Amino acid sequence: MSPVILVAGSANLDFVVRAHDIPGPGETVLGRDFQTFPGGKGANQAVACARAGGVSTHLLAAFGKDAFAAPIETSLRDAKVILHAVRSDQSPTGTAFICVSDTAENAITVAPGANVDLAPAHLPALDGFTHLLMQLEIPLETVLAYARQAQAAGLQVVLNAAPARHLPPELLAATDVLIVNAVELAQLCGPGGSVAQQVESLAVPMVVVTLGAEGCCARHKGKLYFQDGFKILPVDTTAAGDTFCGALTSALALGQSLEQALRFATAASALACLVPGAQSSIPARLDVETFLSEHLQSDHSKTP
Ligand code: RIB
Repeated sequence: MSPVILVAGSANLDFVVRAHDIPGPGETVLGRDFQTFPGGKGANQAVACARAGGVSTHLLAAFGKDAFAAPIETSLRDAKVILHAVRSDQSPTGTAFICVSDTAENAITVAPGANVDLAPAHLPALDGFTHLLMQLEIPLETVLAYARQAQAAGLQVVLNAAPARHLPPELLAATDVLIVNAVELAQLCGPGGSVAQQVESLAVPMVVVTLGAEGCCARHKGKLYFQDGFKILPVDTTAAGDTFCGALTSALALGQSLEQALRFATAASALACLVPGAQSSIPARLDVETFLSEHLQSDHSKTP
């Protein structure tokens, strides 16, 4: 059966201002240029799956009946994502307010809008889908309902537990692949212990942890894997994690080994840091392959 990925998650219009530094609490900073970009973790990850190539990608997302939806839908169409759009009568399209510093770091506040209207009843028939990829910018009960139905239908359930939230054990029980960063991992496991000990403690068959510039690590079938990061000069790290999740899911769906998939996703994520914006920064497969051939690195397994 050819792989077909359903991404269920958020779609936001990102309002982005660049500034020397991200303001702290109570602080005002004078920024510079302002731009809007199509974003939202769900929509970004769908674009990343589609651009990774070779896998048909669908997105289930909710939008308001306003002008903010159009640029996101255009971006999804351009990336060849098949959209299952829910139109909310009561909420505006989700928005995100992002400050990007000159060191490429960001601070993001999401106004969820229509994303909170994505309900268990909106899940399409799952025939023909092989993978379900979700994040946590839609209601938790919706994520749990979709995960359970997908698991019952025999799909691989991939969960990017971002932004960090407490997860019910039933959701982890319905998850095949969990992708988190170090902050989200600590939120799930509690403080203390090494990354290796923390991933061991999670009752999910495959756990992948993104480590920013350091790369990523994974635990699967009792074995630990580590992929170094690629040395780059980042411009904007927004959607780097989303690019990783989409590229990894696509690579695994295509039957790549975990080592290959981690390497591909780490390279895609690095490239996403070189271009401003969310969906606008997500690279195509060819660009990732060219980058990888220029940065020959060895994959290796070791204790993270
Ligand atoms: O992960 C980056 C995304 O987080 C942004 O595009 C923003 O919309 C928020 O959802």
